[in-house]
Amino acid sequence: MTNDSSLDRLLQGLRAVAEGTRLRILALCAHGELTVSDLVEILGQSQPRVSRHLKLLVEGGLLERQQEGNWAFYRLTERGPVAALARQIVDLIPDDDAEHALDLKRLEEVRAGWAVKAEAYFRHNAADWDRVRTLHVDEAKVDVALRRLIGREPVGELLDIATGTGRVLELLGDKVVGAIGIDRSLDMLKVARANVMRAGLRHCQLRHADMNRLPFQAGRFDVAVLHMALHYVEDPAAALAEAARVLRPGGRLVVVDFDEHQHSELRENHAHRWLGFSEARMARLLEQAGLVAEAPERLPGKPLTVCLWTARRPANDTLTSDGQDGRLRKEVV
Ligand SMILES: C[S@@+](CC[C@H](N)C(=O)[O-])C[C@H]1O[C@@H](n2cnc3c(N)ncnc32)[C@H](O)[C@@H]1O
Repeated sequence: MTNDSSLDRLLQGLRAVAEGTRLRILALCAHGELTVSDLVEILGQSQPRVSRHLKLLVEGGLLERQQEGNWAFYRLTERGPVAALARQIVDLIPDDDAEHALDLKRLEEVRAGWAVKAEAYFRHNAADWDRVRTLHVDEAKVDVALRRLIGREPVGELLDIATGTGRVLELLGDKVVGAIGIDRSLDMLKVARANVMRAGLRHCQLRHADMNRLPFQAGRFDVAVLHMALHYVEDPAAALAEAARVLRPGGRLVVVDFDEHQHSELRENHAHRWLGFSEARMARLLEQAGLVAEAPERLPGKPLTVCLWTARRPANDTLTSDGQDGRLRKEVV
């Protein structure tokens, strides 16, 4: 029975893609997440027509649709037999095919338009961020430390929680098989999407989500990163527990944030909720989340110190989901 339905799904996928425009759309979506209006602009076809093609590709299981505020983004399906089919079909399309080459050229123009909008938002906030940056150690040093730490083990899937402008995806993209960045700000996601596309990171995706309710099944990721985000969060314990939930047994959580400090102006001027985290507090938070913490790496700055905390879900932790909220429960053995 399962075989039959898999065959049916494959057949439905093949039927859906067996049309010129739909093949072009599939090929375009392999280069990143696109909206209906992006595709209308690239293909030069009417919105109802493009929407209809997209609907068929989604029904055929080749594309996924992700709603973000008023926008819907389309990308290649990630899992299952039709996902492999979609990827293989796309790989068969030669880059020098004249029509495809023209589509890719138009895609570049559309991306350039995104980048302009994203940069306007970034400029608006950049002064604020730059002011905070001057207070701590050179970001390049933090980047080197984070790359070294992540690179210690091979990484399949990485989750960047509160990705902001997608910096961590850009920094670690070459070290992972796949990555997803989530953020609750749609404006930030626009910037991140433009950055990730510009960097050619086709294996990195972005999703609109709250870190307190991650839209992923338990035990999915090899690594989760919380980079300069926990000090904004109302309930760090809840956020860390949720991050731990989506880690596989043996998976690592890396938190990059400030050591405890006294600069209360960061609360008033930059919306920081917490003035960093002391070693003892972070150790407690990680333990409460069911993780085993390693010794943190400290990068002293003037005046703020940045810490990299690593914690691991025990490899022998047998985990299961309770089937309701998807939370991990330890299996009683
Ligand atoms: C200073 S930015 C850091 C971004 C990025 N990790 C980096 O280091 O460049 C903090 C980000 O946290 C996001 N954020 C805050 N609370 C969040 C939540 N509950 N769920 C998801 N994202 C959140 C904000 O939208 C913002 O993009």
